[in-house]
Amino acid sequence: MKIIKDCQQIEPIKSFNMRVNNLHILFTITFFLTVSCTPKKSENRDSLNFKLDSILELMSLEEKIGQMVQKNSGASIDSLIKEGMIGSILNEVNVEEINRLQRVAVEKSRLGIPILFARDVIHGFKTIMPIPLGQAASWNPELVKKCAETSAVEARSGGIRWTFAPMIDITRDPRWGRIAEGFGEDTYLTTTLAVAAVKGYQGDNLKSKYSIAACAKHFAAYGAAEGGRDYHTVTLPENELRDIYLQPFKGCADNNALTFMTAFNEINGIPATGNSFLIRQILRDEWNYKGMVVSDWQSVQQLVVHGYAKDNKDAAQKALNAGVDMEMASTTYEDYIIELLKEGVVSTELINQSVRNILRIKFQLGLFEDPYTNTGLYPKPLNKKHLEVSKEIAKQSLVLLKNRNGLLPIDKNISSIAVIGPLADAPHDQLGTWIFDGDKKHSVTPLQSLTKLLGDKINYARGLEISRTRHKKDFPEAIEAAKKSDIVLLFIGEESILSGESHCRADIALPGAQKELIEAIASVGKPVVAVVLAGRPLTFEEEAKYMDAVLYAWHPGTMAGPAITDILFGFESPSGKLPVTFPRVVGQIPIYYAQKNSGKPATEETWEKMYDIPREAFQLSIGNTNHYIDYGFEPWYHFGYGLSYSTFEYTALKVNSDSYSLNDSIEISALLVNTGNVTATEVAQLYIRDLVGSRTRPVKELKGFKRITLKPGEKSEVVFKVHTNQLGFHNQEMDYVTEPGYFTAGIGGSSDIELTLKFLITK
Ligand code: NOJ
Repeated sequence: MKIIKDCQQIEPIKSFNMRVNNLHILFTITFFLTVSCTPKKSENRDSLNFKLDSILELMSLEEKIGQMVQKNSGASIDSLIKEGMIGSILNEVNVEEINRLQRVAVEKSRLGIPILFARDVIHGFKTIMPIPLGQAASWNPELVKKCAETSAVEARSGGIRWTFAPMIDITRDPRWGRIAEGFGEDTYLTTTLAVAAVKGYQGDNLKSKYSIAACAKHFAAYGAAEGGRDYHTVTLPENELRDIYLQPFKGCADNNALTFMTAFNEINGIPATGNSFLIRQILRDEWNYKGMVVSDWQSVQQLVVHGYAKDNKDAAQKALNAGVDMEMASTTYEDYIIELLKEGVVSTELINQSVRNILRIKFQLGLFEDPYTNTGLYPKPLNKKHLEVSKEIAKQSLVLLKNRNGLLPIDKNISSIAVIGPLADAPHDQLGTWIFDGDKKHSVTPLQSLTKLLGDKINYARGLEISRTRHKKDFPEAIEAAKKSDIVLLFIGEESILSGESHCRADIALPGAQKELIEAIASVGKPVVAVVLAGRPLTFEEEAKYMDAVLYAWHPGTMAGPAITDILFGFESPSGKLPVTFPRVVGQIPIYYAQKNSGKPATEETWEKMYDIPREAFQLSIGNTNHYIDYGFEPWYHFGYGLSYSTFEYTALKVNSDSYSLNDSIEISALLVNTGNVTATEVAQLYIRDLVGSRTRPVKELKGFKRITLKPGEKSEVVFKVHTNQLGFHNQEMDYVTEPGYFTAGIGGSSDIELTLKFLITK
């Protein structure tokens, strides 16, 4: 579409000698200039492509490159905006300043193209939700969507139009600090929640004043870093990349996530930000993705540090050719694209494509019609409704790991409770990582909520100042509090800064003198309930022996206190399930449920015999299996695990046929019964195994889940429908195939169930 160029009408626009203040005017002008010369009858002048073509025709090369630049908010960007040299700004959150800068772009730049304001709204803007790993423990896509919707409204009221979320990097390494930001170890769960989050941020109508653009990040395989060290090398067979790590991204692409962000890591020797296999071949060509790709922070320039580009100019060339549309924070595009173009090593076509991708989403978001933010049109952040969402998801994220003799829930008529530990009253730490705009002054801590409920029945002593504190000077006070009380609530774990970007831990035990605190408190002899606040699974199997009950709370956000209190006192039964496997010790990592069988799989018998046999028999043992001689092969807690105050039974498991053809839908069902005494919610999980494949298949894969609330004695039939094409994988030729053969399946409340059903898929 070259209406303007064909007519050679660009000059009259320039010679109007007036500033074209916004693109409405521009389109009107374009329209009048073009009606008389080359009207293509089929062309709809309101269509997005018409608009994109028209603007592109009007843009200078410098202005095009300007759109590809994302700058951190800061001093003296006005002049760059005026010159049309900035497409997006991140980290400006003063809404008046956002509107002012936008006015400069719209009213003072030659073409009046609005700026796209971005921010890391990762798990809430002002109202902080649980960390995404905690949200994942809810196994509740509707609620995860609601969290994103709530965050979008708040962010939008602050002038933000684009969030860098959801982060959907699968990881099987809890040492990695960014495990907190994602939805855990599983492909199916992460994909389901990723899509829910995208829908929540973007809404049904991108132009609605409540929608913001989502960003699927980090493309790709960032969570597979060697040793769980942030930014580290990733070596991954292509089929695993495609089967495990890319699926959530595919889900986001298919559901119109407007943007993707590249990752910091390399994969098999090629950094993600210069990786045309990932961006051009997979994302653009195979998935037909039409959104915009932004680099991560300075990750274009880091191609040099990786040793993949010889200098910044080479880095710009590699990133642009690979398909990165917008450069975040580093300046290689603005510094070198013109030179690269002159040298003929990048093409105008590529630049135009990137600019189209960027402008397209500005149009889709309605930025041209509605570039400013009128905060008055929005509900106030942190309002009652938003706090309710935060409390609800926090409640559903809590996972009950242990409840010896049904100690929990606590009777409200108890006469005294000791509240001890560094995280009982830690308003900042309960918020978790990535809370740029959250403020601890709005946090409701567990101590506050418990005190509200029980007043002076609470005996509080923190025992340790923060989770890393090593000295024990506050122990006597904590022991005293335990002695005076009927029960002890211990709030332990890790502070928020111990997880998140670049906050990886080689040892994921309880830090500081928490072990000693637990031992000291346990020696008092009162029942002990531990509530663990953490950004990742922690290894505390030994310490847990002193605990009668363990409630895993992740970092629950603003409403940690009310959520935890409701569960501890049984106003509701816990329903969270682990989105990630808990290792017994760090040496077991990586440990995850969807593992391969190997040629010598371990069993309980082989390991136990090996462990207990006398020294002289050691070599002769039958236990030549893939276990550790000291810690066996089982994790501490399995993926999908979580207790309730009720009990559930799965009976009548069946599959609706013994045999299916490719393209059939398989129906697998069970009868779920609440066999306990309280109303409770169970997350029923469907696992399937492909027994024989042209590549070996995992011993189990999650293929469906449902949250079901039942009254005592109530039953419900849980039915899962799985299409045969959901049982495929990438074969040697990298084709996605479902191979005919036998499969086993099972439905239960955790991934350690046996798969007792069997069915056949024929050609
Ligand atoms: C770096 C992080 O990796 C990314 O997730 C984040 O969105 C950007 N910085 C912007 O803050």
